Amino acid sequence: PSSSSTKSGSIPSFESTYMFKEIMYQPKVVSRIYDLYSQPVQIRKMDLLCSKISKCRRILFLSCGTSYFATLAILSSFEHVLELNGLNCDVYSINASTRVDDIPRIRSSDVCIMVTQSGETADVLKIAKKAVAQGATVAAITNSLFSSATRIAGQMQTFYINAGVEVAVASTKAFSGQILTMMLLLSYLRGGIAEYQNTLSILPDFSVLLTNTLINSADIMQMYAAKISRHPSCLVVGRGKLSSVAYEGALKMKEVSYIHAEGIASGDLKHGTLALVHDDMPVIYLATPLPSKETCGTGSDSLHIGLSQITSRVENRDNILVIATEEFAKKMSSDMNVIIIPSIQSILKEQTKLSYFIEKTDCLQLLMNVVPLQLLSLFSACTRGWNVDKPRNLAKSVTVL
Ligand code: AGP
Repeated sequence: PSSSSTKSGSIPSFESTYMFKEIMYQPKVVSRIYDLYSQPVQIRKMDLLCSKISKCRRILFLSCGTSYFATLAILSSFEHVLELNGLNCDVYSINASTRVDDIPRIRSSDVCIMVTQSGETADVLKIAKKAVAQGATVAAITNSLFSSATRIAGQMQTFYINAGVEVAVASTKAFSGQILTMMLLLSYLRGGIAEYQNTLSILPDFSVLLTNTLINSADIMQMYAAKISRHPSCLVVGRGKLSSVAYEGALKMKEVSYIHAEGIASGDLKHGTLALVHDDMPVIYLATPLPSKETCGTGSDSLHIGLSQITSRVENRDNILVIATEEFAKKMSSDMNVIIIPSIQSILKEQTKLSYFIEKTDCLQLLMNVVPLQLLSLFSACTRGWNVDKPRNLAKSVTVL
């Protein structure tokens, strides 16, 4: 497979958009998280929340849109750690928009964690206020320290993602900040301060990898954007935990390029959506095996099976784009577009001499995978001539129910 066979197309004036700048800022967000969460006060806050989690019956993440997909990306890692630690606690992610008229039952033994960039999303706040009234512990992971979410959670239970002001309506760098903050919380929960500091120590290297991925994926994403922007719709397919990235990639595509996109778990295709797969339907397929394949089933073999379910339904594979690790790509046929992104697992294994906590490599891999999709939606929108920073009908903060 060729990963760099074409020269970049020329996409009109994307460099001046906030969305582009915010996508490119993500490695800096990693460094800013590292700096902030090295501070003793943040470690103390992690410790306090983890001790409440250790005694609670349920963790409920409350979020919407991109923030919701960030929680989905990390959900099964939380489940796994709760299991490993022998905690009698379950974890759920609630898409607040879908439960705002039908608020789920919340008990005083629950820990609710709002995950919200703006801290002002009405659907999230409404459920959080109910949680406070029920006597539950309510925390916030947010990019706004002076927001309603912070007021509800209190400063000691607010975890700042430190991503800098996000201006573009399409959330990009906040997604990274949210995943990284949740990953640090997860690390503390798993192994206290030692595991937490181990995770922090990986972030400077990860920041460099993310920069390389951004630079290396730009050309191919411009090329594929020229192709996809001629189509009315596309599918973004991921398997297991990778489906959360597929949902987020599809949301970005709809939001800024106005191309109808469906993010779907590969196992779900056969239950209906496979009928949409044909020669003229662009399909973006995520194929980066995850280290925790024993627990989430996203190993190389299942990814090959998922891909062949798609390729066997088309004659012209030129509309398929595979986001893959180098190892996976070597086993693919050569008639598909492929973009190679680093395998976090192999890199971290070589670089860290510290204890190896598999769930965090999953989180970092998912984060790495989202970056090319963010670029693809940006380039597709600019190719079509849309203003990516202010998509029609949308507001940056959704403060109404
Ligand atoms: C994503 O690009 C969005 N604009 C939107 O889905 C957003 O993530 C959602 O409205 C939640 O916002 P919040 O993170 O500020 O709560």
